[in-house]
Amino acid sequence: MKAPREKFGGRMAVIMAFAGSAIGLGNIWRFPYLVGENGGAAFILIYVAFTLVLSLPIFLAESAIGRSSQANCRAAVEFLVPGKAGRLFGLLMVITPLWILSYYSVVGGWSLDYLVQSIKLDFIRAAPSEVAGSFGRFIAHPWVPVVFHLAFLAVTVGVVVSGVKGGIERFCKWSIPTLFVLIVLIAAYSLSLPGAGKGVEYLVKPDFSKVTAHTFIDALGQSFFSLSLGTGIIITYSSYVKKNENLLVAGAGTALSDLFFAVLAGFAIIPAVFSAGIEPGTGPTLIFDTLPYIFSHLGQSAPVLSAVAAILFFAAIFLAALTSSISLLEVGVTYLTEDKGMKRGWACALLFVICSVMGTLCSLSFGPLSQVKLLGNNIFDFADSAASNVFMVTGSLISVILAGWVMPRSVLFRELTGGGVFSANVRVFPVVRFLVRYVAPIGILVLVLSSVL
Ligand code: PFF
Repeated sequence: MKAPREKFGGRMAVIMAFAGSAIGLGNIWRFPYLVGENGGAAFILIYVAFTLVLSLPIFLAESAIGRSSQANCRAAVEFLVPGKAGRLFGLLMVITPLWILSYYSVVGGWSLDYLVQSIKLDFIRAAPSEVAGSFGRFIAHPWVPVVFHLAFLAVTVGVVVSGVKGGIERFCKWSIPTLFVLIVLIAAYSLSLPGAGKGVEYLVKPDFSKVTAHTFIDALGQSFFSLSLGTGIIITYSSYVKKNENLLVAGAGTALSDLFFAVLAGFAIIPAVFSAGIEPGTGPTLIFDTLPYIFSHLGQSAPVLSAVAAILFFAAIFLAALTSSISLLEVGVTYLTEDKGMKRGWACALLFVICSVMGTLCSLSFGPLSQVKLLGNNIFDFADSAASNVFMVTGSLISVILAGWVMPRSVLFRELTGGGVFSANVRVFPVVRFLVRYVAPIGILVLVLSSVL
């Protein structure tokens, strides 16, 4: 007889697992930088509005698909759309997270290398002028970043191989609270630096003059990426949620902790950047280039404090990347174990090999393969933009159409209201369904058109 499917332990376990997927690199470098670029608190308001009106309904749509199916992503989608089209859509949602994992684990590898460097006190011992520019040299190296990428993937596999309850749940239950503690400590340090006030102002002052059409696109894209929408992750994780759990509360809890963490990350990074007299508009290189420089610079006068801050900071990035990467891997593992009858260990090993090869190509695209261009981008950037602009939006669109138009209303009602048991959910159900059926598809199409035009 087949063993019964695993289940997450309870509400806290569910929120921690979802939050683990949501809280990641997107919160630590992208969110603070976008806030600064797009009018501070004005951006946060727009981001929150989009999360409530678009992202949360998409999250709930995916949750309902996952839990009602109690199956892997391919089967869940094909259950609603029997036949070839359903299988294709389902497989797309299995492939998307593996695609993302390939390049996400490259950045995870960078964070691991930087954690090792900060433990070895490299940033404190070196002069700021030596640290500046070292990131460019590091990612261009022919094998060091590849080794760290593989090490990061191996740690990801090490968690996932122990299962949903014994691996993912157990890991997220301690790592998410730890992440919050780390980011609060770093924010306290950052805010204590001279000149930090300017950074606070940069983050909290709503400057509506900076809000342009692009601000809305940035806010929407960030909200999708941060909640891991359209990737099969919410469907897969929800298939492990018990029938009596309140999905609406789990979704709202996830969105709230994700937002809270992103804002804390802003306070951890931006005041320190201002304190060092640097403009924070350096984009993706902010955390790996600018911050080590700042740690080195501050290390001249306060070496112990700077060394501790550097270690805590890169430990937080590493941990945040890891809680997301395990969710990316689990989608494929659930598919292979359930659909192909593979043992969890073999499924992990197979996906490790596939992501190692794809990720190595992404990693080398900053060095030996930098001349290889795909649609004008290097391999890494191509993989990233295909995921964000094509795969994730397509996955989200499929999810809302399935939950809003294909799934019977009674099933959606049962999943989102606990069959009428949760009375507050019953009251908001018509609003949520309206958002899923009409508002979300239109929002997604606007996002697609804006990235194409
Ligand atoms: N939500 C993660 C972050 O903000 O870093 C990234 C991510 C994880 C995106 C999983 C997509 C995904 F499927």
